[in-house]
Amino acid sequence: MAKNKILVTGAAGYIGGTFTYEALKRGFNVLGIDNFSNSSYLQIEKIKKKFNKNFFFLKKDLLDNDLHKIDNISEVDAIFHFAALKSVPESENNPNEYFKNNVEGTRRLLNLMQHASINKLIFSSSAAVYGDQDRQPINELAELKPKSVYADTKKISEDILRDSAESNNLKVISLRYFNPLGSHKDKVISESVESSSGNIMSMILKSAIGLEKKIKVFGKDYSTRDGTGERDYIHINDIIEGHFKAYKKIDKIDCYDNFNLGTGRSISVIELLNTFNQVNNKQINYEFSPRRNGDLAICYADPSKANDLLEWEAEYSLEEMCKDAWEAIQNEPK
Ligand code: NAD
Ligand code: WQD
Repeated sequence: MAKNKILVTGAAGYIGGTFTYEALKRGFNVLGIDNFSNSSYLQIEKIKKKFNKNFFFLKKDLLDNDLHKIDNISEVDAIFHFAALKSVPESENNPNEYFKNNVEGTRRLLNLMQHASINKLIFSSSAAVYGDQDRQPINELAELKPKSVYADTKKISEDILRDSAESNNLKVISLRYFNPLGSHKDKVISESVESSSGNIMSMILKSAIGLEKKIKVFGKDYSTRDGTGERDYIHINDIIEGHFKAYKKIDKIDCYDNFNLGTGRSISVIELLNTFNQVNNKQINYEFSPRRNGDLAICYADPSKANDLLEWEAEYSLEEMCKDAWEAIQNEPK
């Protein structure tokens, strides 16, 4: 018997696809949409192979004028909004495209909510909204200082969501992910090594499968434990679990709230590389490179608000993130 029906935007992406898979596994009835701007139908096929029942997928852009014409949209209980463009360098080169896609896309979704009388939404925000913060770990009260166009689109989307939730009596939760890593424990969907994001794990995986000879470590003179940048890497299963916990609590919030999803631990680039090598018996070659433009020295979460109010806590270790990322990539077609 299917549980509540949910709409998942960005259902073919790394996080939205993993969420869709897990929601189907838990018996939800999922309506997924994606325009494949950073994914392909292959992801949907993988999910359908496991769970064809209760999964309805539509190739659709959030900016399509007929978004409200999706069949049976008014049966949807809540929207999980993952769809966005996410590359920081690309956002600096194409700000208009990023504002249109991410901010206008979110606005269109709010219109759809009104049209279809849907009143709950869980939004994929990012630790990028915090920018440089002297005080670490970062809690939700920190002043937001986005440093890139991408980060701006997330902050503005949050503002629009808050305003709309307050004036239309909606329930909206923004989840600010720190650095999601690895693959779902079932190894169905992996992090894309083709993506242009340049994220650290996709670079490590590229090197592990032989597509790159060595990776560049950006900066070795930060005031961190070993001089390389420190981040709060968090297992994708923990990120996904945060969404189910948010959904469970969403009726209790007062219109809008935001929560950090992080572990509360900061890990350096060298520590990440060493862990990947150790658990996977690999030797990833690296060289030090100058600092990457716009990079932060350190960024990690104070997750206590989500721990307390969502009753959520990150469970998985860095070892598991590295092991699952590598095992899942090997299930991918060559
Ligand atoms: P992804 O690129 O793998 O997935 C996003 C999906 O959305 C893609 O399949 C893409 O085709 C789709 N999409 C984009 N614009 C669309 C539109 N207008 N209409 C329909 N579909 C559209 O990215 P991801 O890593 O799965 O990220 C999911 C969400 O989490 C994004 O909102 C991202 O900003 C946010 N986020 C990601 C990270 C990370 O490190 N991966 C960190 C913080 C926040
Ligand atoms: C992590 C660390 C790099 C690549 C980005 C977005 C953020 C969020 C997560 C979406 C840093 C170092 C990286 C490489 C390296 N995404 N690094 N060599 O920059 O923390 O955050 O992804 O919301 O918005 O900005 O993640 O994985 O790119 O970098 O040394 O080839 O790895 O300098 O210290 P980042 P990242």
